[in-house]
Amino acid sequence: MKGYVFHGPGQSAWEEVPDPGIKEPTDAIVRVDAVTICGTDLHILKGDVPEVQPGTVLGHEAVGEIVEVGGDVRTVRPGDRVLVSCITACGRCRYCREAAYGQCLGGGGWILGHLIDGTQAEYVRVPYADLSVHTLPAAVPDRDAVLLADIFPTAYEVGVLNGRVRPGDTVVVVGAGPIGLAAIATARLFAPERIVAVDVAAARLEAARSLGADAVADAGEAPDQLIADLTTGLGADVVIEAVGVPETFELCTRMVRAGGHVANIGVHGRPATLHLEDLWIRNLTITTGLVDTHSTPTLLRMAAAGRLPTSELVTHTFPLDRMQEAYDVFGAAADTGALKVVLGGPLREVVAVQPD
Ligand SMILES: NC(=O)c1ccc[n+]([C@@H]2O[C@H](COP(=O)([O-])OP(=O)(O)OC[C@H]3O[C@@H](n4cnc5c(N)ncnc54)[C@H](O)[C@@H]3O)[C@@H](O)[C@H]2O)c1
Ligand SMILES: [Zn+2]
Ligand SMILES: [Zn+2]
Repeated sequence: MKGYVFHGPGQSAWEEVPDPGIKEPTDAIVRVDAVTICGTDLHILKGDVPEVQPGTVLGHEAVGEIVEVGGDVRTVRPGDRVLVSCITACGRCRYCREAAYGQCLGGGGWILGHLIDGTQAEYVRVPYADLSVHTLPAAVPDRDAVLLADIFPTAYEVGVLNGRVRPGDTVVVVGAGPIGLAAIATARLFAPERIVAVDVAAARLEAARSLGADAVADAGEAPDQLIADLTTGLGADVVIEAVGVPETFELCTRMVRAGGHVANIGVHGRPATLHLEDLWIRNLTITTGLVDTHSTPTLLRMAAAGRLPTSELVTHTFPLDRMQEAYDVFGAAADTGALKVVLGGPLREVVAVQPD
């Protein structure tokens, strides 16, 4: 089969690789029908995630059909259409028993396209299939469902739920990439008073508005002052960090009200300063997290009911074998306007769904 293989920083290719086979009786083999590229894959290609060994097939999000299962798999069978979650779960360890699957100690967690071959291929082996794939409702098309493998549960769990968004809140989302936009969309489910998006890119702020942000602010134009003005000097109830650089984390701690929540989603490569000399007196809650995907079944029901704006986030589609082109478009988001790019067998045409 073909897969997108990491060969070390700056080197990768869509090339022939061995077909995956069942290794453990809890495995399933999935034929990939739709797959997407994550910002984290770009981090891997830059060399920011050194655990990824050269030779690994990338990708941790997919929709496909089960073609083979090991003898211990009980909940899915060949022919089932499934969502492959970005998080694999053994189901038995202490963390899995607490639904903290991202921290799985039994060989799960984020392993696809990280520690083992991933989903950017024609087929993928999914360990612990019973808890690591979700049977898909027919009402959710592949292109929409694939966004529930990572970005929607991440934004919802690590941003909105950790941030404890409540009715009437002022919510600020810093970073309006796919994750920040999904955070805006899922924060709306809690009827906040207002959502403010902060970014440096005008196109991203426009996307934030169309996904339900009530106000937008350029990160370079004193967004903390805008938030103070909107909240009679108090600050926001909840601030969600969806960029992953020290400046934006520190900005979040300046925009939150006393007693409020800062929910960090961004993957940080550098230390950020925690200004305890100012913050100790402000009763803040700061949360961090890797997604667990415990919310995926709920999100799937909501997607089937048309309650999630998944299709608005897909800007480009490609056939699977044009993976490199898809990476190029996704990697140059500032020029191409890409949010999520989706690849798949039945998606024959190259389509810019929302061209610039
Ligand atoms: N915690 C988790 O489990 C988890 C899972 C997936 C992704 N992530 C992380 O979430 C973050 C967001 O992911 P994404 O795919 O949306 O990334 P992205 O790179 O597409 O989006 C980031 C956005 O931040 C904006 N930005 C850059 N610098 C800024 C600044 N100084 N001020 C304000 N905005 C700025 C960019 O214009 C862009 O719109 C990344 O760090 C990603 O690695 C975390
Ligand atoms: Zn991801
Ligand atoms: Zn586990």
